[in-house]
Amino acid sequence: MKTEVLIIGAGAAGLMCAIAAGQRGRRVLLVDHANKVGKKILMSGGGRCNFTNMDATPANYLSANPHFAKSALARYTPWDFIALVEKHRIAYHEKELGQLFCDDSSKQIVRMLLDECAAAGVAVEVSCGVQRVRRTPEGFGVLTARGEVHAGSLVVASGGLSIPSMGASGFGYELARQFGHAVLPTRAGLVPLTLSGKHQEHYQDLAGVALSTVETRVGKQSFRGGLLFTHRGLSGPAILQISSYWQPGDDLRIDLLPDLDVGEYLVEQRTARPLAELKTVLGEVLPKRLAQRLCEQWFDNRPMRQYREAELVQLGAQLNAWPITASGTEGYRTAEVTLGGVDTDQLSSSTMQSRRVPGLYFIGEVVDVTGWLGGYNFQWAWASGQAAGAVA
Ligand code: FDA
Repeated sequence: MKTEVLIIGAGAAGLMCAIAAGQRGRRVLLVDHANKVGKKILMSGGGRCNFTNMDATPANYLSANPHFAKSALARYTPWDFIALVEKHRIAYHEKELGQLFCDDSSKQIVRMLLDECAAAGVAVEVSCGVQRVRRTPEGFGVLTARGEVHAGSLVVASGGLSIPSMGASGFGYELARQFGHAVLPTRAGLVPLTLSGKHQEHYQDLAGVALSTVETRVGKQSFRGGLLFTHRGLSGPAILQISSYWQPGDDLRIDLLPDLDVGEYLVEQRTARPLAELKTVLGEVLPKRLAQRLCEQWFDNRPMRQYREAELVQLGAQLNAWPITASGTEGYRTAEVTLGGVDTDQLSSSTMQSRRVPGLYFIGEVVDVTGWLGGYNFQWAWASGQAAGAVA
């Protein structure tokens, strides 16, 4: 079988690339080994797909080359995707911080992309894994579950390693290596952190306790957002965000009350309510169970008047920069994304084409470009897919 453009992976990036190439009149075949397309789109955003972020800029992405994503992101912006969503009359809303979600269901985004594929004449084959790729004089010979497909252009959109149960595979990395591309070490990103030993013992029965706004910090990077205690450690948006910047051994600090100078507050409370116990005072600004646990583990619980001012200031400073030792992450099983991947050094930033092998392209999450939480990863998938689809 012959086609002009073969795209491996019918996720966000592959679908977008197929549409762009199909609209140029190219004969496009999009294959996926899963039994339906866009599985991650369907499960994203709690079933409502956080399909872009209005404030997306290159600064919201991690990559060994922070400049790489600039060109594609500038040429296909959140507003381009919003225009597509509006063309298909999909109702959406901003949840917070520029994050756009469907009002109804992420199924609408998959439907929209499939309708666009159909309009552009794209052939889509599911339950069609790719086993082997070889170079041929005309381009590529790709052995799929339906036999060998010959294509002039081959686009690798097979995603990262996150959520293996949804079809994630290391296929794209192996293919990149086969054609002489470097693959930067991968690790789970946007993922809950785990605690171990004493840390886990101290906090595991707080599972379910949530703080609406904390500030997590690793080095110079910080994020504000919610925090949730889990049986294994810590989760919530502020933890997921910082997890992409954290590596074992790094110093992680959490400001449990970023809008309050806790030391100053405690000193005021000592004057106003000398007989109140510390855990009661802290329980008014923190979840009560957490306040109690901190008082059991860290600070002995006494009436406020029994603390010296300096003690309260120091105690407050600890709550404004809580040093918690994470032991690891929950790994790819629950990670939203995979950091690292195909090195951008050997890719064109305007077309995503390999500098080593003409006609070979890498797009989406398989590439070493990873966004923050909040619609940034889909925006990269759309933008890189569009960049390749415009030339492949
Ligand atoms: P993606 O993983 O989507 O697609 C790759 C495709 O390739 C898959 O369909 C897979 O089956 C296929 N494939 C792999 N190997 C193959 C092979 N050998 N042969 C054939 N096919 C193969 N982002 C965001 O911006 N907003 C959000 O709301 C969310 N929410 C979210 C929730 C959850 C639970 C997860 C796990 C992730 C998110 N994300 C997100 C991240 C987002 O889903 C992710 O960044 C994009 O889906 C990446 O798109 P790709 O097309 O690159 O890969």
